[in-house]
Amino acid sequence: MEVITAVRGFKDILPRESGKWQFIEECAREILANFGFREIRVPILEKTELFRRSIGESTDIVEKEMYTFVDRGDECLTLRPEATASVMRAYLEHSLYAQDAVVRLFTIGPMFRRERPQKGRLRQFHQINAELLGLDEPRADAEVILMLMQFLTRVGVEGLHLEINSLGCKTCRPAFRDALKVFLAGREAELCADCQRRLAINPLRVFDCKTESCKEVISHAPRILDFLCPDCKDHFANVKHSLDIFKIGYKVNPKMVRGLDYYAKTTFEVVTEHLGAQNAVAGGGRYDGLVKDLGGPDVPGIGFAVGMERLISLSNLDDDKFLSAPEVFIAAIGERAQNLAFSVCNHLRMAGIQAEMDYAGRSLKSQMKRADKLSSLRVLILGDREIEEGRAQLRDMRGGTQETIVLDNNVEQTIAKIVRGS
Ligand code: HAM
Repeated sequence: MEVITAVRGFKDILPRESGKWQFIEECAREILANFGFREIRVPILEKTELFRRSIGESTDIVEKEMYTFVDRGDECLTLRPEATASVMRAYLEHSLYAQDAVVRLFTIGPMFRRERPQKGRLRQFHQINAELLGLDEPRADAEVILMLMQFLTRVGVEGLHLEINSLGCKTCRPAFRDALKVFLAGREAELCADCQRRLAINPLRVFDCKTESCKEVISHAPRILDFLCPDCKDHFANVKHSLDIFKIGYKVNPKMVRGLDYYAKTTFEVVTEHLGAQNAVAGGGRYDGLVKDLGGPDVPGIGFAVGMERLISLSNLDDDKFLSAPEVFIAAIGERAQNLAFSVCNHLRMAGIQAEMDYAGRSLKSQMKRADKLSSLRVLILGDREIEEGRAQLRDMRGGTQETIVLDNNVEQTIAKIVRGS
């Protein structure tokens, strides 16, 4: 019978990798907590309308990449392509803004985009997502970026570059859009079909296009930074100043518009040369109009998401370091020894010590081999003769030393003491 495989672009995270995932998530949780972020868990499925309204109709995500379906109740639903929209929906639905003027939220989990799978690009991928709501100060932008950079450094990723930009606000962006439209009007024929179509709705999307001819056209286009209003200019200068205080290096990339429509003012990406075309490990920015556009109060916000798969492929963390190994392996020879091993093994586990045994009744040599394969730290060797004599050998697999253990009613405590004492 044919074996059923996973869906293309959907990946299993196998036991040998999951320790690394847990470590990275724990690092994230610790750093996020230090900065006052609290976890929110939002559903994976939302009404399609939520993403259309927040991410934007003319984006690649909404136009081509969403997993959207009509359910049995005729409702149009979408597997979330990102978390910000869902977090904002929950923030509004539960009036979190009424409980506190400043709300810091994070969420970790899978996202779904039907892109063409390639290195660093999956159809189900995972993000660590942080959102800071209620502060429009430039220092909030710097705080969020500082937190992100501290996290990336902590998980051992090197060769990363922070790029920042400002996309202006409702006051200054229209003038830039108009200038861009005028610039692109004479070059329409050089643009790809997607960009030609989007020209009227959102000409900024051309900046995000990967087509060579569009890239060439856009390289001569006007820059948003030349159109910023005094407020946005001031905001951007202050963000840079705050980053300088923390000695966070950055490059201003005036062509970075990000692939989602909700951004205003500061945007940023952390990029690397080591991931080929998929060079962004993390991305984010300010989205001051989003909560209002979704029907809520005028609350400013800023946040980012880190792509876990990309992060893991770049981190220098060693898989083996995260594989947990038994502290004690019990090698039992004979019926009586096996019965005792079963009891000792499970008592040790219940006492919080990772213990393992072999049920197959194999030779001592093959049990020792298995203990070694599992990288067990110690082996308790139990034979019927040892039980008869009321003692057994506990071998330290690293040092090669051995000590005698008395097999009395306290055997689990004796072993636990030895394990904990070293
Ligand atoms: P984004 O730039 O679309 O932003 O995604 C953030 C990160 O998710 C990317 O930098 C990348 O590491 C990872 N990522 C995106 N798509 C894929 C994929 N197909 N395969 C693997 N990894 C991927 C957002 O999603 C915004 N919601 C971030 C944000 C939060 N902005 C404000 N708050």
